[in-house]
Amino acid sequence: MSTSGSTPPPRNNVQTAGRILSGIQPTGNLHLGNYLGAIRNWVGLQKDYECFFLIVDLHAITLWQDPAELRRATREVAAGMIASGVDPVNNALFVQSHVPAHAELAWVFNCVARIGWLNRMTQFKDKAGKNRENASAGLYVYPNLMAADILVYKATHVPVGEDQKQHLELTRDIAQKFNNDYGKAVFPLPEPVIRGPGMRVMSLRDGAKKMSKSDESDYSRLNMTDDRDAIALKLQKAKTDPLPLPATEAELEGRPEAANLINIYAALTDKTIPEVLADISGLQFSAFKSRLTDIAVSVLGPINAEMQRLMNDPAEIDKVLSRGADKANAVAGEVLKEVYDTVGFLPRR
Ligand code: TYM
Repeated sequence: MSTSGSTPPPRNNVQTAGRILSGIQPTGNLHLGNYLGAIRNWVGLQKDYECFFLIVDLHAITLWQDPAELRRATREVAAGMIASGVDPVNNALFVQSHVPAHAELAWVFNCVARIGWLNRMTQFKDKAGKNRENASAGLYVYPNLMAADILVYKATHVPVGEDQKQHLELTRDIAQKFNNDYGKAVFPLPEPVIRGPGMRVMSLRDGAKKMSKSDESDYSRLNMTDDRDAIALKLQKAKTDPLPLPATEAELEGRPEAANLINIYAALTDKTIPEVLADISGLQFSAFKSRLTDIAVSVLGPINAEMQRLMNDPAEIDKVLSRGADKANAVAGEVLKEVYDTVGFLPRR
């Protein structure tokens, strides 16, 4: 049996390279890791692929969220995507809770995924921490909902940062098991698209931890809404080591904080690591950090300004998201019907 699934139909009668689905949580602040690891890649991919970009509010409440803050952050993520260059007219940009098929397919996947698979998910272990018994059941089945996000569009490609790789592998396992269990190639096996030096942006305070919205210290990340002063201060305070800046890639070995800053420089300037090392050779760390500040401000500054402008008109953001949900519902509803039929649910007459 083939497990490739059916090919998505062409967009506006133009054949695309495939169908993309990717998502982001509306919790806390959008940060440089989200931008370099995900959003920037989406902007590059949208001309060749039919794209579905999702703000995952159902995932967000696996940990308690303040309702007013969740609404604000949901609009801010939409503004951040649009300000970064995501085109909401030719793609579907929408909120997960506006498309019920996500939660409905997730239930089916709760019955397909094995408990042993979920037990291996490192993100659950990280987020639940020591008090596992007290974690929400939603947090535990989080990966099944993520698989539903992707497969309810029969997405072929999923651009993410490296931290999401394990979830993508689980999505492929679920797709394969569903296809095998029902003897029908309903789902394609989606490919992760993980690339560029921004695929793993680490905390500015600890080179062993990823930059994250949930880190207690705001000094650990550059937020997409930070102004020049905040960026300069955070980079000045960013942890480094007592050695001089490295001259070769080999000298970066075992120096996670220096490697992270150089990686960020490379990602923001679209240069390779050797090119960056040539650029910064002979600089002190402090001069390097000032240069990195200028670069970060030149990339994030215009995005930030556009985000502020968009956030001044929340009704317009809501309209854009509603249009996105209409497009998404049309596709997801059909796939859900096919799944319900495949598993043997009666059709509604
Ligand atoms: P989230 O909201 O944590 O992150 C959104 C995207 O940003 C990437 N990212 C990073 N990339 C590089 N370095 C970092 N420090 C960094 N931090 C975050 C993530 O890899 C991701 O691509 N479970 C997902 C949301 C999700 C999803 C989906 C993604 C739900 N359904 C379906 C893709 C497809 C998450 O929590 O991402």
